[in-house]
Amino acid sequence: NTKKLTLNNGQKIPVVGFGTWKATGEGEAYKAVKTALQKGYRHIDAAEHYHNEEEVGKGIKDSGVPREEIFVTTKLWNVDHKKVREALDLSLKRLGLDYIDLYLIHWPVATDPATNEPYKDWDYVDTYKELQRVMKTTGQIRSIGVSNMSIKQLEKLLSDEEVTVKPVVNQIEAHPLLTQPELYDYMASKDIKIEAYSPLGSVNSPLFKNETIVDIANKYGVEPANVLISWAVQRGTIVLPKSTTEHRIISNLNTFRLHRDDFDTLNNLSSKYGVKRTNDPAWYNFE
Ligand code: A2P
Repeated sequence: NTKKLTLNNGQKIPVVGFGTWKATGEGEAYKAVKTALQKGYRHIDAAEHYHNEEEVGKGIKDSGVPREEIFVTTKLWNVDHKKVREALDLSLKRLGLDYIDLYLIHWPVATDPATNEPYKDWDYVDTYKELQRVMKTTGQIRSIGVSNMSIKQLEKLLSDEEVTVKPVVNQIEAHPLLTQPELYDYMASKDIKIEAYSPLGSVNSPLFKNETIVDIANKYGVEPANVLISWAVQRGTIVLPKSTTEHRIISNLNTFRLHRDDFDTLNNLSSKYGVKRTNDPAWYNFE
């Protein structure tokens, strides 16, 4: 699937992106990114805090795919909220790029590196204004967005009168056991796209063993991962599967259309199996 969606600023984004979180073994991210691009991906999702931007950048370079064909995202880490410009410069340097397509605030938590506590005089809205400023005054960022934000946090951000550029996305954990229905509807109403991370349920995923998902996969003659990625695309989200295994990297790009009843079954999977969040850092309070 090499389809693209249009963001609220008119920029186009490939709907299936390549995730690089936890690709941290020696040479792992390099090889995976290079392979992904050579096999047809055109969207790479990176972050300063994945500690592999240099490898990601080398993978991009050695893939032979022209830079302008690739949508590259990276993210500002919590302790860098008061120094957006410097953090961005360092990310670009590590990536070996002179611009990125999308810069995200990784978490709506601005942490003082000296104490590891949240700042009292600064929060993610201040940081977002910095992103706006840097985007407007340099040619280094094409779009800005957020990640791991709740409705409440988005509302606070959007109601600030100095926030004049809407985030194009909110990157959140989303899969059939974490559909986030209220957030999903809220973001649709604001024309902010959801980017789904851990769409396969991350490492040792319960989703691959889920009997309903396995049954649906068998019915279509595909792998559970194909069902999960196709479901995410069908509900209009951008989806960021991660893999460092070549045949899975290739396979994860194959999406198909689920019949309405199977799509609905997946939408309602939590009513039977509960809600499962795989990424729940202690320092972050989900509202
Ligand atoms: P690997 O990198 O060894 O392929 P998520 O995208 O939700 O973070 O999930 C990533 C996890 O799912 C990784 O452990 C990855 O392992 C595994 N994975 C990725 N693609 C597939 C697939 N097609 N089938 C099974 N497991 C997969």
